[in-house]
Amino acid sequence: MEALNSSRVSSGRYVREFEKRFASLVGVKESVALSTGTDADTAALAVLYDFGAKRGDEVIVPALSFVATGNAVLQAGLTPVFVDIDRYTLNIDPEKIEEAITDRTKAIMPVHLMGKPAEMDSIMRIAKRRGLYVIEDAAEAHGAVYKGRNIGTIGDMAAYSLYVAHIITTIEGGIVTTDREDFAEILRSLRSHGRACKCESCVLNISSGYCHKRFKSGDGSDIRFQFERIGYSAKMNELEAAVGLGNLDIFEEILSKKRRNLLSMIDKFQGFRQYLYTVNEEAYEKIGPHGFPIILKEGAPFTRNQLVDCMEKAGIDTRNLFLSMPTQCPGFGFLGYKLGEFPVAEYMGNCGMHIGVHQDIGEREIDYIMGTVSGFLERYT
Ligand SMILES: Cc1ncc(COP(=O)(O)O)c(C=O)c1O
Repeated sequence: MEALNSSRVSSGRYVREFEKRFASLVGVKESVALSTGTDADTAALAVLYDFGAKRGDEVIVPALSFVATGNAVLQAGLTPVFVDIDRYTLNIDPEKIEEAITDRTKAIMPVHLMGKPAEMDSIMRIAKRRGLYVIEDAAEAHGAVYKGRNIGTIGDMAAYSLYVAHIITTIEGGIVTTDREDFAEILRSLRSHGRACKCESCVLNISSGYCHKRFKSGDGSDIRFQFERIGYSAKMNELEAAVGLGNLDIFEEILSKKRRNLLSMIDKFQGFRQYLYTVNEEAYEKIGPHGFPIILKEGAPFTRNQLVDCMEKAGIDTRNLFLSMPTQCPGFGFLGYKLGEFPVAEYMGNCGMHIGVHQDIGEREIDYIMGTVSGFLERYT
C-alpha cells in the first residue's frame, strides 16, 4: 500500500531498497533488479559487449536447464555452446568444458539446477586459465552455499529469478548480483534501453525530477537522452519490489522449512534406490531447496509416465526435469545439434521429474508422498 500511495509505481526507492537488501543477503557489493530472471541472465551476458565481446561470440552452457538459460544467450545476441551434464549432480560436467572452448568463447554460464551448486572450483579454474567470464545462472539457487561461499558471490555475476515459484519472489522479477561496480552500472543502463546518463534520477529513478542533462548529438546539437548501448526494457517496478521486501523478511524461515523438507525427502528416498534416485547433498555444500528431483534408474521396469500418473492421481503435482535444450527443444534446431549428442541431458529429458518442497508441507505430507512412491514400486517391481 505504501508503494501504491507513493504516487510513483515505476522503478524507484523500493526497488533500490530491495536491491540493497538482496546484495547484503547474498554478500556482494551490488545487485541490479530486472523484470524477470531471463532478463537478468540476458543483461548479465550483454555486459560482456563493454568488455570486448562481439555479437555471435560463444557462451558455454549446460545442455540441461530450464529453456530460459539458452534463450537468454540468444536474446543477448550471443551463441550458446552446449555441454552435457553429470548424471548425479544434474549440472554441467566440468570435464567436458575445455573441449567446447574456441577462440570465440567469452563466458561460461553454469546453472545450479534445482539449487544444487555446480562444480564452481573446477569451473573457475578453467575460466581463469582460459580468460573467460563466469556468469552463474542462480535462478533456482536462492540460499545455496558452495564450500562456505554463498552462490551468487563466486562468478563475475550471478542471475536470479524472482518468479513466484522461487524462494524470494517479486511475483515476476529477476536480479543480478556482482562485486563489480562497473558491471552494475552497465546493468542499470541495459535494463533501461541502454541509456547513457548516470545521474541518480536516470539510474535509480528515485529523485522526483526528470534528468536535465544534455548530450551533444553527432551534429553538435543538444539532445536530452542518449543511448550508448543496445539495451532492453526490463526494469522492476515498485509494487514488485514491495512484494520482494516483504518476502525478504520471511526468507530465512521459508528457506529453513524448505531445506528441512528437501533433506528429509533425500533421506527417505534412499529406500527406493534400486529403481529411482535423486541428488545428494555433499558435506561441502548446501543445496538451495528449489525442488526435489526424481530420476528413473536405467532399466527400471516402469516408465516416467506411469510414475507421474500414479503420483498425480494421488494429488501430488509433478513437473518434468527440463529437456536437453539443443536436441529436445525444437526452437534450438537451427543450431544444428543432433539427438544423441547429449546423452545424459537427453536421459533426464526422458526419465527425470521433480516435485515441490514447499514450506507449507511437513513430515505428514512427505510420508504420504513416500508412501505413494513405495506403493507404486510394489505394484510395478
Ligand atoms: C535455471 C533457470 N534459468 C532462468 C530462469 C528464468 O527465470 P524467469 O522465469 O524469472 O524468467 C529460470 C526460471 O525458473 C530457471 O529455472
